[in-house]
Amino acid sequence: MPSLLGEYGTPLSSKSFKLMFLGSGELGKEMIIEAQRLGLETIAVDRYPDAPGMHVAHRSHTIDMTDSSALRNVVDREEPDVIVPEIEAINTDMLFEFEKDGYFVVPNAKATWIAMNRERMRELIASTGVKTSRYGYASSQDELLDLCEKIGYPCVSKAIVSSSGKGSCFIKGPEDVPRAWEYAMKKARIPQERVIVEEYVRFDVEITALSLRHLDESGEITGTFVRPIGHYQIGGDYHSSWHPWMENMEDLEEKIYGYAEKIMNALGGIGIFAHEMFVNLEKGEIYANETACRPHDTGLVTIFSMPSGQSEFALHVRAISGIPIHSEDGILNPIRTSASHVILSHGEGWYPVFRPSWKGFDSMILVFGKPQAFQGRRMGVALATGKDVETAKRNAETVAHSVTLEIDGRNYLQELSEKHALHN
Ligand SMILES: Nc1ncnc2c1ncn2[C@@H]1O[C@H](COP(=O)(O)OP(=O)(O)OP(=O)(O)O)[C@@H](O)[C@H]1O
Ligand SMILES: [Mg+2]
Repeated sequence: MPSLLGEYGTPLSSKSFKLMFLGSGELGKEMIIEAQRLGLETIAVDRYPDAPGMHVAHRSHTIDMTDSSALRNVVDREEPDVIVPEIEAINTDMLFEFEKDGYFVVPNAKATWIAMNRERMRELIASTGVKTSRYGYASSQDELLDLCEKIGYPCVSKAIVSSSGKGSCFIKGPEDVPRAWEYAMKKARIPQERVIVEEYVRFDVEITALSLRHLDESGEITGTFVRPIGHYQIGGDYHSSWHPWMENMEDLEEKIYGYAEKIMNALGGIGIFAHEMFVNLEKGEIYANETACRPHDTGLVTIFSMPSGQSEFALHVRAISGIPIHSEDGILNPIRTSASHVILSHGEGWYPVFRPSWKGFDSMILVFGKPQAFQGRRMGVALATGKDVETAKRNAETVAHSVTLEIDGRNYLQELSEKHALHN
């Protein structure tokens, strides 16, 4: 891998160190801001103009990232030192080709190829011996019914290639099977003949465990772990996250770091890994769900909770640039209890106006800068601190729900569900 352990030139000069981001949404934007601070040259790529990362990068390209010749074109034109996938919907065949040509793909092409497909990722996790929900695969509606009977109800079916809950179904009983099959076939990102079915895990809290494979001061690869983040989901997408996930859980945290280490080492390469896990507190059980080889949306909270230079975005950029990351005991801890709460669009149109009414908390609103709003699209996030997790969560929720979005002359408030504290 190329590394900043040596020397590097000024951005925009012939000796600059160039990072190309494939996908430049809100996560790409934060990575680019961190890269800019370090004096790296940044190139944002996305499928639409004025994507969030394009607002802060040195240059940008608007292409279809599933199109091999478009990708080949921008990569050969820019000759980046590092190619940083920000999303899974990329032509992964090309990532293998770029790697063969000598480009450094983060964390490596194979890991990105594994992470875009639930079956490959589940098999990788299972091969490490880390606990997961019971699962199996079905390639017809009849097989799906047999599998559900075997795994037991309720269970969850998911399209093999999809994200944000698209193509996933909660199956209460045999009567739900035809709908689940049809839905998975319709919503899969790449038409596949199979679906995965998982046992429904009864968990108390969902977490994201961030782990890093990075270089130490002597240039050796080593592992570092970030104290886990807690989060909840609404409609298949993350809605709120908090850091740390809980207090006084050292024993469980040891187990979580052990799982994260096994999975990230099996994936290999360099960078941050975000492991989604379910925790059953009573049984002391952790179940690995899936791992992303990049910063995670629930990790936006680390902008507020972690010291400067240790947000998940800063850590990823430092790791992939070969910059050593130091910690006393291999664990990076938040310095203040914080939470994030998403700001969604409930209308459709261009260039929304944000109207926050500040609540007097230690808080901040990140506006991603997406030019177009549509139903359910994440447009920003509120970050807040609190004396404990519950207070931080409530503060972030209060701030997010104080925002009115004006779109095409109409005003939209944030919707409440029973998962919100403000609902009660
Ligand atoms: N086996 C399971 N048991 C219980 N809940 C589950 C299970 N699988 C998924 N869920 C719930 O559904 C959410 C989304 O599942 P998952 O992460 O597997 O799908 P996804 O489409 O990749 O979503 P995303 O892209 O947002 O991560 C989980 O965060 C969890 O809340
Ligand atoms: Mg997930």
